[in-house]
Amino acid sequence: MPFDPKLTRRGFVNVLLGGGVAGWLASLLYPVVKYLIPPEDVAAEPDVLKIGAKGEFPAGSSKIVKFGKRPIIFIHTPSGEFLALAATCTHLDCIVQYRKDMGAIWCACHNGKYDLNGRNISGPPPKPLEQYQVKVIQDDIFVTRA
Ligand code: FES
Repeated sequence: MPFDPKLTRRGFVNVLLGGGVAGWLASLLYPVVKYLIPPEDVAAEPDVLKIGAKGEFPAGSSKIVKFGKRPIIFIHTPSGEFLALAATCTHLDCIVQYRKDMGAIWCACHNGKYDLNGRNISGPPPKPLEQYQVKVIQDDIFVTRA
């Protein structure tokens, strides 16, 4: 801002107060605008996710991994089948877990149960878990969208 030799003391104080008010308004509006405009989706969902090597998952084990932004549960069943399902409970979005002792997928939040195909079999979950495809290529395990 160029120096104005005609600027009086009152004018200088007005400029200072005006700047302060403008800064205060900006600090109020900035978070509101950032809240209303959603951020760009930087972690887009991948087409394929490598889970790991077959040997890392003994029969009866499971692992929760991120598929893009969504958690999925990968299960190696005692019968030797590989499964991958959404790990977010369809009731209130808690993360589910594989319970080998029950032979089911269980949600600890409200005792919801799903069978190993992701079908809701008891408790409050209203819908089945989304299924993913598992592919074993040589010794590596990959998950893709079904
Ligand atoms: S959130 Fe899973 S049963 Fe309620």
